[in-house]
Amino acid sequence: MILLTGGAGYIGLHSAVALIEAGHEVVLFDNFSNSKPEGVRRLVKIVGREVACVEGDVRSASDMAAVFARYSIDAVIHFAGLKAVGESVEQPLRYYDNNVAGTLVLLAAMQQAGVRRIVFSSSATVYGAPDFSPIPESAALRPANTYGRTKLMVEEILRDLHASAPDWSVALLRYFNPVGAHSSGQIGEDPSGIPNNLMPFVAQVAVGRRAELNVFGGDYPTPDGTGVRDYIHVMDLADGHRAAVDRVLGDPRDVLTVNLGTGVGYSVLDLVRAFERACCRPIPYRIALRRPGDVPASWGDPSLAGQQLQWTARRSLDDMCRDSWNWQKQNPDGFA
Ligand code: NAD
Ligand code: WQD
Repeated sequence: MILLTGGAGYIGLHSAVALIEAGHEVVLFDNFSNSKPEGVRRLVKIVGREVACVEGDVRSASDMAAVFARYSIDAVIHFAGLKAVGESVEQPLRYYDNNVAGTLVLLAAMQQAGVRRIVFSSSATVYGAPDFSPIPESAALRPANTYGRTKLMVEEILRDLHASAPDWSVALLRYFNPVGAHSSGQIGEDPSGIPNNLMPFVAQVAVGRRAELNVFGGDYPTPDGTGVRDYIHVMDLADGHRAAVDRVLGDPRDVLTVNLGTGVGYSVLDLVRAFERACCRPIPYRIALRRPGDVPASWGDPSLAGQQLQWTARRSLDDMCRDSWNWQKQNPDGFA
């Protein structure tokens, strides 16, 4: 059985679909601080069977001990964490507590239960402003904000843990920009409040919840002046987790660090145009000031994941926009 901390969240639910369809048993564990039980009900609809789900907090040693006592866990995917960059700068203690201290409690519970296989949700944000793209895993690590530092700290904790106890099998997955939704339109990204990220903002403009998109910066040294990113379909990312779980279950007893991206960069306006094709309506936008902390361009080199996990992203930007729109138009107010 695979334990998915933060399993009721955006990437957790989509990964649960991929894992269950590949024949794995999963148990979701979540405190619902950034997700809703309705997401879990939708997952059940998609897979057509019950899915174990425990409400609890990774920072609680007793909650963690209880889940390891109740289920026979073979490996953990650790999605649970807070992810808003701006908020992390305003509330560093909350972010270090959830993301770093919470991980320590989880790892202690794993050690106690004799579970030594973990897949961790890291982020391309650990690279900060890259010297060049595509970014290989060997690039300099210099996260530019608190959120990014929490991710790098957990990577280092897991490397130190493996150095001290080489029977651990660890996969550190550095995601680029996850977008899109399951093709059913039953589950998708459901940010609370004003979306920080581009795709959910564009989708809310398309559905009429917001008047126009602010494009943060039109004077970057990129082909059209807007920021360039490596958008990856969440179901490709989910398949990457399935591949990483299969690897740690094979007890490689190492630490694998891989980028999960497509290796292709698209600009903000590329994404807006692709979304317009998907929803068949114009997306009003205006060029606004740059957002502080943004880098001009960042895309990943996913070749190591190809070699080590036999995984590669298959879905196009048009697929990402089509599925994101399908989710948004069926659920204009998300899971509410
Ligand atoms: P999400 O917020 O949708 O999911 C995270 C889940 O963790 C939520 O359901 C939340 O309720 C839960 N959670 C938070 N703190 C918890 C705690 N203390 N105990 C138990 N549950 C807790 O986010 P997501 O987009 O699915 O991201 C999943 C992971 O991937 C996160 O660790 C995030 O930092 C990382 N990541 C996300 C992105 C992205 O752009 N979405 C990119 C790179 C990395
Ligand atoms: C993408 C592009 C913006 C919103 C963030 C985190 C990162 C990772 C993924 C978790 C940029 C532009 C955006 C808008 C815009 N998360 N934009 N108008 O900043 O690459 O990455 O999410 O690990 O850590 O930093 O993603 O979707 O916010 O922005 O013009 O309203 O869209 O400037 O060029 P980002 P994003």
